[in-house]
Amino acid sequence: MATFSSTSSAHCASSSPAFSNNNRLHHHRTVSSSSIRFKQRFPRCFSVKQSSKAVHLQQDGASTMKVSPVKDDNPAKILKDGILSVPPVTPPEESIDNAKFDFDKENSTVSITVVGASGDLAKKKIFPALFALYYEGCLPKHFTIFGYARSKMSDAELRTMVSKTLTCRIDKRENCGEKMDQFLERCFYHPGQYDSQENFLELDKKLKEHEDGRVANRLFYLSIPPNIFIDAVKCASTSASAANGWTRVIVEKPFGRDSESSAALTRSLKQYLDEDQIFRIDHYLGKELVENLSVLRFSNLIFEPLWSRQYIRNVQFIFAEDFGTEGRGGYFDNYGIIRDIMQNHLLQILALFAMETPVSLDAEDIRNEKVKVLRSMRPLRLDDVVTGQYKSHTRGGVKYPAYTDDKTVPNDSLTPTFAAAALFIDNARWDGVPFLMKAGKALHDRRAEIRVQFRHVPGNLYNKNIGTDLDLATNELVIRVQPDEAIYLKINNKVPGLGMRLDRSNLNLLYAARYDKEIPDAYERLLLDAIEGERRLFIRSDELDAAWSLFTPVLKELEEKKTVPEYYPYGSRGPVGSHYLAARYKVRWGDVGSEQ
Ligand code: BG6
Repeated sequence: MATFSSTSSAHCASSSPAFSNNNRLHHHRTVSSSSIRFKQRFPRCFSVKQSSKAVHLQQDGASTMKVSPVKDDNPAKILKDGILSVPPVTPPEESIDNAKFDFDKENSTVSITVVGASGDLAKKKIFPALFALYYEGCLPKHFTIFGYARSKMSDAELRTMVSKTLTCRIDKRENCGEKMDQFLERCFYHPGQYDSQENFLELDKKLKEHEDGRVANRLFYLSIPPNIFIDAVKCASTSASAANGWTRVIVEKPFGRDSESSAALTRSLKQYLDEDQIFRIDHYLGKELVENLSVLRFSNLIFEPLWSRQYIRNVQFIFAEDFGTEGRGGYFDNYGIIRDIMQNHLLQILALFAMETPVSLDAEDIRNEKVKVLRSMRPLRLDDVVTGQYKSHTRGGVKYPAYTDDKTVPNDSLTPTFAAAALFIDNARWDGVPFLMKAGKALHDRRAEIRVQFRHVPGNLYNKNIGTDLDLATNELVIRVQPDEAIYLKINNKVPGLGMRLDRSNLNLLYAARYDKEIPDAYERLLLDAIEGERRLFIRSDELDAAWSLFTPVLKELEEKKTVPEYYPYGSRGPVGSHYLAARYKVRWGDVGSEQ
């Protein structure tokens, strides 16, 4: 922002749109060309891992990951690991080519500014993810991290705050303490108001000092409440954009409350940024098993032919947490579980799950296919939605609070903390297949999973060995996103012996048993993608519009009619209504019952 004088108005709210547009266009050009160059310089990061004999250049991701063989011959362990376990995969040669990537490392730098640095998300997720990337050798040679927030804090105080949440989870043995110190030395703090151009100009000055004349690329992570998004974007864009590199902004949900507010937010953001500068984050898209969905489907012959109404009876997307909204009631009460989880996390997974084969793995090709799914969805009817809210419950002498016991939640709040919905995609592939979703807080366990229930085997020769309940014998593919990441397929199998008895067994890929490497946090993958300019896992504005179009009418109806949620005890399995809803479409939730 060399042309922006320090005499400009102190508050961004009064800066001129004409100026902003010029600025925007300038950055558009810079972004498109530099992001390509940048990608060449920083393809997927790699780390050099020393083993006793060989040095492996390891690239992130399962396909090139070195995995260990099943070490324990104990039959129970073999069974647990799954009969599909195969010998370890040797990393392919191409990971070694990555060594060439950093050709321009002396001349460029990346500055990452965490706006809202003293907030929970920044402390718990963003700084630890940045450290993990640093530890893995994923950050460029020249980088600086700035925390920006209103509180007065020195660099040293920021470092102390950040250091409390950094962990050595990646490799507990190797130089973690030393790496932490090196990382913290690259972290700085600038106090400022979110709507003050003057404060952002001061930040700009400090960033320039650190950039030291190199090509400057700047990433702003907005970890702040939605009501101050636009002011901060305006200030960052007009007063602290990169002068000769790219400028990108990561924004966190909520992206509005409904179609109208979301469209207004997008319009305002686009006054200051181009679409390709905006990285709307949905951290579920950064989860390992969600990233793996396309691999599973498009690189295995056995799944894709089955991926349609011909063979799939229903698909379930389940999100459960075994804790309430503790501490977040103020935010949550204005949104509710449908906006907090369904409209974004679960719907994004659904779109990835159901999309047609994209032309390529390029961001636009994938997002084009996802948006087609969203736009093919049948309008959601209130009748196909069940809502719930948790109430207080005492178990083992411990009293668990009701949602409305939270001081920041009104006593008469009708905000749902649980919802279930039946959705349909009216296209040739999925016509008539129920896509069921349920999401809830304060339930009996914590899980996020995708369940694919297949149709019954027509004319099954073994029906009489299965018993009367054919549902119990349908194949089911379960993709457990968390915890204990796994993919397993339920099959019918003959119980060994002279008789003919069938049981349900699992072909089981349990990640912890199969892969040595710890699964990276979703924020690590997404931050790295934003630095590399990879947009595949971020939400494009048309996807966002389509997602809101699906849920806005039903949300409005629920709120206008003041629908009373079904109350369920804290720690239970949620409202019974969700079972009636599923039963209407001849579906049984896969997460209930003894065998899950
Ligand atoms: C957030 C929601 O987006 O995701 C929270 O706002 C929820 O309510 C969280 O708890 C769950 O994320 P994760 O990664 O812990 O499953």
